[in-house]
Amino acid sequence: MNIQEVHSYEEMSREAAYILEQHISQHPDATIGFATGSTPIGLYQELIRAHQERGLSFQSVKGFNLDEYVGLSPDHPQSYRHFMQTQLFDHIDIQPGKTKVPAGTGNAEEEASSYEDALQASDGVDIQILGIGENGHIGFNEPGTPFDSLTHVVELTESTRAANARFFDTLEEVPTHAVTMGIETILRAKQLILLISGSHKKVTYEQFLRTQDDPGFPASALKNHPNLLVFVTEDARS
Ligand code: GLP
Repeated sequence: MNIQEVHSYEEMSREAAYILEQHISQHPDATIGFATGSTPIGLYQELIRAHQERGLSFQSVKGFNLDEYVGLSPDHPQSYRHFMQTQLFDHIDIQPGKTKVPAGTGNAEEEASSYEDALQASDGVDIQILGIGENGHIGFNEPGTPFDSLTHVVELTESTRAANARFFDTLEEVPTHAVTMGIETILRAKQLILLISGSHKKVTYEQFLRTQDDPGFPASALKNHPNLLVFVTEDARS
């Protein structure tokens, strides 16, 4: 595990985007694992800038997103598909057919298994971007998720629903379930970049440093990966 202690959110976003830009420049057909949440927004802004100002092309890039809420259609303003379109995909030249986000509507169990099949049939994710939930969840793998889990349907914990309620009008509107890549699915990526930022993630980061192989803290599984890069901003460190 390589930990990069950065000062600010802006620095983290720039540094992480630089790694992606270098990789995509050298491997134009790279597969990137995208994440949602507030944390990667700055990184996506940097990628848009790299595209607009330096001509970084995403023409041949493939994207697999980590997760999606069950019950939200792609055009729902809080769906992760909508998030990716508005925060990144609509502003770069990535081909729409090459961006995969689990479908939130239809049969969720079937979607989870076909998403896993699509991932396994692909060349694999080169770089997976990850944020972290306050309870240590990655994607939507909540505490207690087995480390050998594949893409599956998960029931969200009340704390995760409450944390994500800020994006919805009421807590009741926050979906109760999601489809998420499993922990084993995530660990198959060749490189993981974990972004931790904000004073509300201080306790989370402390726990991340303290835990190892603890299903009660899903992000501890990442420490088993041979190529994990963690960016942590000053306000998330004690
Ligand atoms: C959601 C997403 C996660 C994300 C987490 C933290 O639960 N499923 O992928 O890491 O939120 O989000 P934020 O970056 O807004 O703190």
